[in-house]
Amino acid sequence: MKLSSAMSRLGTETAFEVLVRARALEAQGREVVHLEIGEPDFDTPSNIIEAACKALHGGYTHYGPAAGLPALREAVAAEVSRSRKIKVTPDQVVVTPGGKPIMFYTILALAEKGDEVMYPNPGFPIYESVIKYSGATPVPIALKEKDGFAFSADAILSQITAKTRLIIINSPANPTGGVTPKEEVDKLVAGLLKHPHVALLSDEIYSQMLYGGRKHLSLLQYPEIRDRLIMLDGWSKTYAMTGWRLGYAVWPDAAVEHVTRLCINDHSCVNAATQYAGLAALQGPQDAVLSMVAQFDKRREIIVRELNALPGFRCADAAGAPICAAGDCCNDANCGVGEACLGGYCTAVECFVDGDCTGADPCTLATCSNGACSYAPACEGECATCDGGICSSDDTLCGLCGTCDAGTCTPVGCPEGFSCYAETGECLGIA
Ligand SMILES: Cc1ncc(COP(=O)(O)O)c(C=O)c1O
Repeated sequence: MKLSSAMSRLGTETAFEVLVRARALEAQGREVVHLEIGEPDFDTPSNIIEAACKALHGGYTHYGPAAGLPALREAVAAEVSRSRKIKVTPDQVVVTPGGKPIMFYTILALAEKGDEVMYPNPGFPIYESVIKYSGATPVPIALKEKDGFAFSADAILSQITAKTRLIIINSPANPTGGVTPKEEVDKLVAGLLKHPHVALLSDEIYSQMLYGGRKHLSLLQYPEIRDRLIMLDGWSKTYAMTGWRLGYAVWPDAAVEHVTRLCINDHSCVNAATQYAGLAALQGPQDAVLSMVAQFDKRREIIVRELNALPGFRCADAAGAPICAAGDCCNDANCGVGEACLGGYCTAVECFVDGDCTGADPCTLATCSNGACSYAPACEGECATCDGGICSSDDTLCGLCGTCDAGTCTPVGCPEGFSCYAETGECLGIA
């Protein structure tokens, strides 16, 4: 079976692969402490589970509208309007099987070869993976420990080009727990007014997990960018519902029809019982959410304090999300094979296949060797281009009389009296 070339650019979320291995060990009777997958270890509150059971027994076992049940879209619109203090209408909400598909739909709907998409780095691995899959060029937004892993508006704005189609923002952030302060967000939005061709995906999946009295700031609170903003949130983290697969996004009016078509093509609709569970979550008591976040906060304090007490080790304090960034270095020289210094910590750089390395800037124009990225010389030639870390050579760039060989046009011969002009690949007559 021959795979499409796009498949060679698709990465993964290694936490899922480690989870499979960890579960296999558990099945053999081994005890495993799960630190691999980013999910609340709490049970889904029972009122939510009961709502799903009731829906199933009540006959809600059929297809429903692709964009979500009207009652759920209404409840989401009401909740987002309340929490973000802005007006969102039900027809701007599309319900999906988890928050992840929203990344896929947004990137596939907006970006393609020749475009650039900015994404947080370090960041949720699926952003970079799907950008590469789409054929667009991933442009990392460096998040630094010294900035509390918040983005710098100036750094983002300075990277915008005519090819930039989308900027992905995630605050509170995975995997660092960084939260970007309001001044930086204000500055970014003000700067974006000069770049109306750039859309935004604001991943707010951790909107309710903030520490130290912080309040969530949503990009939806900036009306000036509303017509090009997609705001992603969902139930997975807030209500400990990762396995149910339920998420949503608020879309610009003009995009709703298109994303609904993507839903119809992809999954038809989210299963009805899960949607009723989501409805109960939004409309029921919220004390389970508050007590879970309070637990995460306590754990955060312990983890950060104890890791920082280890000699040669440090852990940045998380301002939000049930995650913090810990490591033992860093500059590129003291990171090991298969690691790169990212955001102040040595981070594993994963190479899946040649030219498809994820997690580090140097992977553009790279091939994979021993788990590390190395530059691909063929990409530097006159007739080869690098797209998403993959080199492709193009004979047509060598014109009539050449073929592309390791990035260089090699003449293949011209009619008598002509010779091959290697730079353009044209057969030129000798005067
Ligand atoms: C930043 C971020 N966005 C989105 C998701 C996906 O959430 P869901 O499980 O709803 O697809 C995750 C999951 O870990 C995440 O960390």
